[in-house]
Amino acid sequence: MNPSTFLSILFTISFIFISHVPLSISTIDFNFYQIVCIQYGIQVSPNIKGCLEALESDLQIPQAKNYAELSILILDQAIKNTTIAQLSLQNLMKSDPSPAIKECATEDYDEIIIAFENSLANVNHDPQIAINYLQKDLGYAERKCSQALKDDPKPYFEVNILISHVHFYAAVTELSLNHLKGQ
Ligand SMILES: *[C@@H]1O[C@H](CO)[C@@H](O)[C@H](O)[C@H]1NC(C)=O
Repeated sequence: MNPSTFLSILFTISFIFISHVPLSISTIDFNFYQIVCIQYGIQVSPNIKGCLEALESDLQIPQAKNYAELSILILDQAIKNTTIAQLSLQNLMKSDPSPAIKECATEDYDEIIIAFENSLANVNHDPQIAINYLQKDLGYAERKCSQALKDDPKPYFEVNILISHVHFYAAVTELSLNHLKGQ
């Protein structure tokens, strides 16, 4: 699909959302992950392309048959991604053991990964509890890490990029889980 086709579809979709025309977007035959990325583009950050590309890096995600399966696959990807991020933070800690890096690399990323895992464990059982783990536990740990970095006079661009990935995965997981509520 060329970019302009994509933009015109996006415009149509935004129009449907804004005008509340009672037309379900699933009738246009998008995959579940594409719907989640369109919602991400409208509600969170306009980078729909980045969202699609990130999720497509797991070949199973475009095949997801429902939002429960999609949520589980996104959480798997989030846990892998965050685990690798923590390893690179722990590496950085060896050369730069500042309080901020120590805090993020150990306690905070531990808590972020545990929150993703607890969310994963609740997808089928109770999607609202799965969302709560992201909003409360993960949100708390992520804010602690961000604050520690802000309090440090050094600019930690790369670490802030890692945190933006945590934000991304928490947001798309929540959008996917929202579809499961009240089912
Ligand atoms: C983590 O996720 C982000 C966003 O999807 C991606 O850009 C980055 O390459 C991923 N990192 C790894 C190590 O896979």
